[in-house]
Amino acid sequence: MAKKLLLPVVAILAILCGEVAYLSLKPPNMAPPSGIKVEPTPERIARGEYLVNVTSSCGHCHSVTDATKFGEPVAAGGALKGHLVPKEMGLPGEFSVPNLTPDLETGIGRMTDGELIRGIREGIGADGRVLFPFMPYTEFKEMSDDDVQSVVAYLRSVPPVKNALPVSRIAFPVGLFIKSVPEPVRNVPNPDRNDAVKYGKYLATISGCKFCHTPVVRGSPVAGREFSGGHEFGAGEYRAVSFNLTPHPETGLGRWTEEQFLKKFYDYKDYAANGPPPVKPESFTVMPWLNFTRLTPEDLKAIFAFLKTVPPIENAVETRPGAPKDNRKS
Ligand code: HEC
Ligand code: HEC
Repeated sequence: MAKKLLLPVVAILAILCGEVAYLSLKPPNMAPPSGIKVEPTPERIARGEYLVNVTSSCGHCHSVTDATKFGEPVAAGGALKGHLVPKEMGLPGEFSVPNLTPDLETGIGRMTDGELIRGIREGIGADGRVLFPFMPYTEFKEMSDDDVQSVVAYLRSVPPVKNALPVSRIAFPVGLFIKSVPEPVRNVPNPDRNDAVKYGKYLATISGCKFCHTPVVRGSPVAGREFSGGHEFGAGEYRAVSFNLTPHPETGLGRWTEEQFLKKFYDYKDYAANGPPPVKPESFTVMPWLNFTRLTPEDLKAIFAFLKTVPPIENAVETRPGAPKDNRKS
């Protein structure tokens, strides 16, 4: 290598090493867990069940599911007990989705309510570790105090299941870069349910619609293209790309009526009740339709009202690229 090239290379290396050293020493922006004690009222437990199993998909990610079936239903006995993330998912490291049942040794039994709430909204594990943001705390930071407390009340009410899992190991240097993701969260009020657009915006965030329906470049959502779809999931012949949810008339939801929108979700009720069919390339999805089919009409109408207010973006999405046409109903 020519001498004059060497100097910049050395300089760049020095800067990179400096950056890595800086990130290794810099502590994440975290606060101690609050000392809150959640009162497990029947209302809280019922609300928590809806948040965990319907809106916020905790029960989808943290359960053992049957990936051979449409919509990945929870396997018998698999609810909330956690599992290893398959290597094929290509996450940087070795990951467990932790056991959220109240088992004392292998679940959340020994975590305090404050530690749980901090884990969910701020991305700090019980051991003070920064959680990999595949756990969507960047969205859950918007979850209201009442709602996150209901989640805790519900998780404490399910039967404990023993299922020991290793702590995730995040590969270098990703483990360093994610240290800047968590941020302390305090006092999030409930959204005003009488304002459908505001309430819909809240739901579209804590239900992952925004997360999954915004395109991603190098791991980060593209600012200004929220809800325009094009976020790719899966691998090989099983691929799904999220649809454009902006009100663009040709390529988004612009021509959809509220009735069509609700029907799309409620068409999956029989799959949820009687078991879904085997998944095929043309029906593969990561969208938790089987949970979402339980969204109340009030909640779906609010989400639809909100989506009608986001700026329309033209983005024609083929949701199952290369797959034969889906012959599923509707
Ligand atoms: C998209 C998948 C996904 C969803 C949805 C999800 N989680 Fe997680 N969660 C994870 C993963 C993966 C981890 C582990 C991350 C790591 O080890 O760095 C995790 C970690 C956690 C932890 C940390 C436990 C500890 O060791 O301290 C808690 C608590 C938790 N999740 C609760 C929830 C709750 C409650 C919800 C719903 C409101 C939820 N999660 C939704 C994937 C998910
Ligand atoms: C885990 C990722 C994920 C989440 C969360 C998610 N979606 Fe999706 N969505 C997808 C993908 C991928 C597709 C394309 C495949 C399919 O149709 O299932 C899709 C498709 C759709 C479609 C188009 C269906 C059609 O007619 O082709 C609508 C409407 C939709 N999503 C709405 C929503 C709403 C509203 C929410 C929040 C309540 C949401 N999605 C949450 C990933 C997601």
